[in-house]
Amino acid sequence: MKKDFLTLLDADATEIEDILDEAGRLKALRAEGTPHTLLAGKSLAMIFEKASTRTRVSFEAGMHDLGGHALFLNPHDLQLGRGEMLRDTARVLSRYVSAIMIRAYKHSTIEEFAKYSSVPVINGLSDIAHPCQVLADLLTLRERFSSLEGLRLAWIGDGNNVCNSMLIAAAYTGMELRIACPPGYNPDAGILEEARARGAKVAFFATPEEAAEDAHALYTDVWVSMGNEAEREERLRAFQGYTITSDVVARAEPDAVVLHCLPAHRGEEITEEVLEGPQSIVWDQAENRLHAQKALLVKLIR
Ligand code: CP
Ligand code: NVA
Repeated sequence: MKKDFLTLLDADATEIEDILDEAGRLKALRAEGTPHTLLAGKSLAMIFEKASTRTRVSFEAGMHDLGGHALFLNPHDLQLGRGEMLRDTARVLSRYVSAIMIRAYKHSTIEEFAKYSSVPVINGLSDIAHPCQVLADLLTLRERFSSLEGLRLAWIGDGNNVCNSMLIAAAYTGMELRIACPPGYNPDAGILEEARARGAKVAFFATPEEAAEDAHALYTDVWVSMGNEAEREERLRAFQGYTITSDVVARAEPDAVVLHCLPAHRGEEITEEVLEGPQSIVWDQAENRLHAQKALLVKLIR
C-alpha cells in the first residue's frame, strides 16, 4: 500500500481486494467475539471540518476493536481554527499518532496534510472523493453477489464525491456503471476519464428509469451535499424526477438491491417505501463502514 489513502487510486485492484478480504475476516472475528487487537498501542487522529455520524463512530469504534485509540478533533478547537498552518499541524500530529483521518471541504486540504504528514493520511470525505464509503459499498455488494465483475450498478441523482469514487471502483472490479444525473450534475470529468482509461465501463442515461433497466444494484445519495447548502433550492428543482421510487426499482432485476451511503432525505433522492423496503440494504452498508475501515487501518499501520 502507498503511505496515504486519499482516493481509491492510492491502492490498486489487488490491494482493494485484499482490504475487502481482510474486512470479511475481521467482521467474522467480531461476530464470534474473538479479540483482534491488531493495532494495540496505535492511535488515530480524526479531524472533521464537517458533520459525521457513520465515519466518526465507525473509525472510533473500529480503533477500539483493534486495541488502539482514536481522537476526535474539531478544527475549531485546534490551533488550526486560530490560523496555525495545516503543514505545521500535520508535522506535529505525525509525532504523536500512527495515522490521521481527515474530512475536509476541499480535497486539496487533505493533499496538503498528507504532503507534510509522515504518517498515513486517510480521506474521510472531501468534495471530490469518499473512498472509505466505497470500500464499504464494495464489501456490501460482494456479500450479496458472487462476483462484482459484470455487476450492473445504476447511480441515480448527483454525480458527487461518492459517485466519483465509484467510478474508480468500477475500473478495479469490472462493475458496469449506469449513470443518470440531471444536466450539469455529472461526475467529475477528469475522474471519469481516468476511470475509463483504466477500463471502467460507464454509460450515461437520460432518466433514472433507463439507468435502472436490468440493474443489479441501485445507488443514490443526497441532492445537497455538505458544502452545497447555498444551492439547495436550485438543486431541488434540478433533481426533480431523479428520486429512486418503487417504479424505478421495478425496472431493475427482481433481486436488485438498493444502496444509499446515508444520511437519507426521504422524499428527495429516495422514497420512504424504497428505503425501508425489502430490497434496501442500507443498514448492512452502513455497518460495513466499520469492517472495511478496520481492514484499511490494519493494512496501513499494522
Ligand atoms: N456516509 C457517511 O459518510 O456518513 P457520515 O457523514 O455520517 O459520516
Ligand atoms: N455526498 C454526501 C455524502 C455524505 C456522507 C456529502 O458529501 O455530503
